[in-house]
Amino acid sequence: MVRIILLVFGLGFLPQATSLAPYVPTPEDVVDRMLTLAEVKAGDVVYDLGCGDGRIPIAAAKRGARGVGVDIDPRRIEESNANAKAAGVEDRVEFRLQDAMTVDVSPATVVTLYLLSSSNAMLRPILTRQLKPGARIVSHAFSMGADWPADTVDRFVTTRGDEVTLYLWKINKGNQRYLVR
Ligand SMILES: C[S@@+](CC[C@H](N)C(=O)[O-])C[C@H]1O[C@@H](n2cnc3c(N)ncnc32)[C@H](O)[C@@H]1O
Repeated sequence: MVRIILLVFGLGFLPQATSLAPYVPTPEDVVDRMLTLAEVKAGDVVYDLGCGDGRIPIAAAKRGARGVGVDIDPRRIEESNANAKAAGVEDRVEFRLQDAMTVDVSPATVVTLYLLSSSNAMLRPILTRQLKPGARIVSHAFSMGADWPADTVDRFVTTRGDEVTLYLWKINKGNQRYLVR
């Protein structure tokens, strides 16, 4: 047990954070489609909760938006910073070693997710309370449950032949009824 705790601290994982999903990167062409679905443009502030190697905030920054990524794995944050530098957008992105469940998403105009259905359900109260009307949520592969249907569902086959589903929700005052208490 002590060895497990030491290992966790040694790797720099946030010990009290719940893992919301394993690391599986979204393919770059799917990233582009997510950002297009959410109509990301200059002036947007895009938060990726569980950012992996930072590819979504970096792609958003390339469109003129600002990107914020959070992840509980310090290796992912290191990669994200290195990738942002390599892409020349380090001044437009910020990566934080932080539990997504503790993030203040109120500055976001777009939130991107590639987690799990159960994780989306846990984040729902945070998203619906904090996001402002007009904000968009786009999720790769996982819905928010049958009781919060997406405004748009985008199903397509990638160039590699993978079937992908993207979900888009637009925040408006009526979203309060989707709060999970
Ligand atoms: C499926 S990957 C998605 C990576 C990236 N968003 C993408 O689409 O390429 C999920 C990421 O969430 C991170 N993660 C898991 N639990 C988390 C938590 N509680 N807070 C922040 N990040 C978390 C993992 O470390 C992993 O990098």
